[in-house]
Amino acid sequence: EDYDDYRTTDVLVVGSGIAGLAAALGAVREGADVTVATKATRPEGASSWWAQGGIAVSRDDPGQFKEDILAASADTSDPGAVDVLVDEANEAVNDVLVDTLGVEFDTSGADEGGEETADFDFGREAAHDEPRILHVDASTGKHIHVPFLNQLDDRDGVEILDDTAALKLVSHEGRVHGALLEHEGDVMPTFAGATVLATGGIGDLYPRSTNPDGSTGDGIAMAALAGADVEDMEYVQFHPTVYPGGEGANDGPFLVSEAVRGEGAVLRNGEGERFMPDYHADAELAPRDVVARAVQKERDATGEVVLDVSPLDFAGEFPDLVEKCEDRGIGWESGIPVGPAEHFLCGGVDVDTCGRASLDRLYAVGECSRTGVHGANRLASTSLLEGLVWGLRAGGDAADYDPQVVEAPELLDRDPALPDNFAREKFVRLRRVMDEYVGLRRHPDDLGRAQAVLRRLKGEVDAYVRTRTSRSLYELRHASVTALLVARAAAENEESVGTHNLVEEPATTRAD
Ligand code: SIN
Repeated sequence: EDYDDYRTTDVLVVGSGIAGLAAALGAVREGADVTVATKATRPEGASSWWAQGGIAVSRDDPGQFKEDILAASADTSDPGAVDVLVDEANEAVNDVLVDTLGVEFDTSGADEGGEETADFDFGREAAHDEPRILHVDASTGKHIHVPFLNQLDDRDGVEILDDTAALKLVSHEGRVHGALLEHEGDVMPTFAGATVLATGGIGDLYPRSTNPDGSTGDGIAMAALAGADVEDMEYVQFHPTVYPGGEGANDGPFLVSEAVRGEGAVLRNGEGERFMPDYHADAELAPRDVVARAVQKERDATGEVVLDVSPLDFAGEFPDLVEKCEDRGIGWESGIPVGPAEHFLCGGVDVDTCGRASLDRLYAVGECSRTGVHGANRLASTSLLEGLVWGLRAGGDAADYDPQVVEAPELLDRDPALPDNFAREKFVRLRRVMDEYVGLRRHPDDLGRAQAVLRRLKGEVDAYVRTRTSRSLYELRHASVTALLVARAAAENEESVGTHNLVEEPATTRAD
């Protein structure tokens, strides 16, 4: 084909969280040349950077770790995928995080003779039978993500294209040949032997999320539009303890790690009562979906819920969180106000144990994928691990193919820019619909309404996509496609399970 400008690469990775970087590492180790395209601002644009609790590993009893994953998912996880995750956890963590990146996970401190011991300080989180979480304070993500980026920046055979978004996959007859990449308004086809999607979550679809801005489901939407299978899209996990933020510019929301409850913090309602023991035998350490629903219910009934950190040495154990509280003037000694916020999509592009999607030469890893590990509800601190294990596997597998230059779709840009505020207004509507109808509580009538509104919205966006090309328009397109996939999957699943919670009464507020 005759293009003015195009790129070729053996492996194109879209996204730069832990899953994308692990895929790049897996591929370059096999001798492939790798291009990582990322729209995420460094380093905090990737969700991985924000991960607090840590990364779960297998201790003496891998079988128990597997059981915990299955139990948290209400037995909906795929046992074969869980085996892969747990059986490869320790080797992947040691090889990549400890040996290659030099991450220094917290240890249990000095032994009696005053020597630093090599024993890890395993953290405990909800629904884990034992402490098994490797962490660095409660800011594990950044201690992994930054050295990982540095490692790949310095590595021959890897090129990271910053400020570069993928707009569309190039596919022909069931095979994917790369993607159209956009940088500073210019669109360039990038032809790849294999394409690995690692675009993270869908936080931008909800008004409150722990994800960084830009989490618009790009990989899922591009894969679905190209004809790939997506699965389990109704399983959207809400984190129960997110400080919701206030009015002021310096009063933004932030996640209060589950590790804080692991150390003994308790939840109290507006009347000062501890309520979790009434909801589940494991109280604050019940599976995340159970805690999120209870927190919402108690907030609705009593006005607020706070996380009481007085049972632990909060300042000593969680200095980063203390700093966040103090920056915002939160008097944490009397409890941190918390509520649920969208946190993690358990479903995504359906892949096998090597990250292969249903289209040839297409892979998906990390949050945008559906490996089967999480089922209807993900166990805490398994997402970095899944990204790492599947990233390495997919990258290694994807390294085998040579790029082919084929005909790429042409994007038209013949009309003027979008009307002012177009994307912003559409996003506000989309988020309102997802929040009211496709959030923690779902009613079949509302799910029908949500689909109708989202279909209309997608139609309006598509009309612009026919003649205009811009990153924000494509992000909106991807968000509307993904939102519709979530709403449709939720409407089709008549069983309340895990994060998919069907209720008796429709929402009282109308979002359409
Ligand atoms: C947290 O630190 O609570 C988040 C851990 C996770 O989402 O796995």
